[in-house]
Amino acid sequence: MNASSGAVTTIRLGLLGCGTVGSALARLLAERGATIAARTGIQLEISRIAVSDLSKTRDPLLDAALFTDDAAAVVAADDVDIVVELIGGVELPRELVADALALGKPVVTGNKALLAMHGAELYAAADATGVDLLFEAAVAGGIPLMRPLRESLVGEPVRRVMGIINGTTNYILTRMTEAGASYDDALVEAQDLGYAEADPTADVEGFDAGAKAAIIASIVYGRIVLSDDVHHEGISNLTADDIEVAARLGYAVKAIAVVDADTSAAEPAIAVRVHPALVPLDHPLASVRDSFNAVFIEGDAVGDLMLYGRGAGGGPTASAVLGDIIDAAVNRAAGTAARIGALPRAQIRPIDELSSAFYLRIAVVDRPGVLAQVADVFGRNSVSIQSMEQQGLDDEARLIFITHVSQEAAVKATLAELRELEPVSGIHSVIRVVGHDD
Ligand code: HSE
Repeated sequence: MNASSGAVTTIRLGLLGCGTVGSALARLLAERGATIAARTGIQLEISRIAVSDLSKTRDPLLDAALFTDDAAAVVAADDVDIVVELIGGVELPRELVADALALGKPVVTGNKALLAMHGAELYAAADATGVDLLFEAAVAGGIPLMRPLRESLVGEPVRRVMGIINGTTNYILTRMTEAGASYDDALVEAQDLGYAEADPTADVEGFDAGAKAAIIASIVYGRIVLSDDVHHEGISNLTADDIEVAARLGYAVKAIAVVDADTSAAEPAIAVRVHPALVPLDHPLASVRDSFNAVFIEGDAVGDLMLYGRGAGGGPTASAVLGDIIDAAVNRAAGTAARIGALPRAQIRPIDELSSAFYLRIAVVDRPGVLAQVADVFGRNSVSIQSMEQQGLDDEARLIFITHVSQEAAVKATLAELRELEPVSGIHSVIRVVGHDD
């Protein structure tokens, strides 16, 4: 069915959950429904909405008669063609999404935790009944990313994906960079603005970005990568001082997710990590400020691509959900589906096998011969120094090293030896450097 034939097919939506995103979706549908119908031949209608608390005041745009607290009944209802999961959490959505797929109903979800834990079974369930399971909103909110990765770039040999995929940490680091704020003060600002939760652990320790990076890796490499496969380091130990030094050396400090793979063997060995990083100021990711997200894709054929936008919030998330609904509705009307397939489990590369350049800030006693001792430790561990700067502070000196790209295991061994060295009074910062041509 398409717009030019003049006929319009009605596709009915069952919403599971109706918070900020559900309300924003209802508003978008009210504003854009006629245009969507004219362009696609599909009239979208919300036919049922499941919520856990029926007594809560809801958006007046939504007819009170649509609401129920029986989510399973919404999934099973004959007047629900597509299930839109906006509940959050993992176990209940897992059951409901699996039931919908088993019934042959396409599912749209923005639930990153669900996919990063149970993607394998759900992709397989969608494959078994031949229906869409779409999740654009799960990664980088309003930025179209999953569809480009699944469709436009499916034939692209992707070398690496680097992303700023957590808006809260990007906001905190922007405030630390631009206002010289401490981590604690910037976090409170992020909480006041509603970016960070009262318990900010998921954002600041990299779990949120880790789940998103696991999904990106699964789609790019066609292998199941789980949240637990992701190496995480948070931003809470970063200081405004390091950020200032980094800027002087020509770098921005960002919380970065990196996805790549060793494809030299028949089975790719996939590496996914989330950590703070120094990014050269002339790299496109360095200019991504405030709570914005961006994903930088390095392809062998296409070259470098960057997608930029809002990674969270009702409007951007609803926009991504609506795009998926339209896709699923058009596919359903045409009797097709864009399935991911039953993916095999990924082989994961341990972090120690990876290589990176590093920024290191080390405090030493300031006396003759100390620099030579420190440099010797680097040399014996095959870690090559790219640049070094020394600042004297009374009888202590601060040494700032940037290394050449080195194996993680070698840098770890260097740091372990330095900690044992008598003149070394502290290793204060260890931050990877990404974004050079390496
Ligand atoms: N808390 C996330 C962020 C949004 O700050 O980007 C939801 O994934």
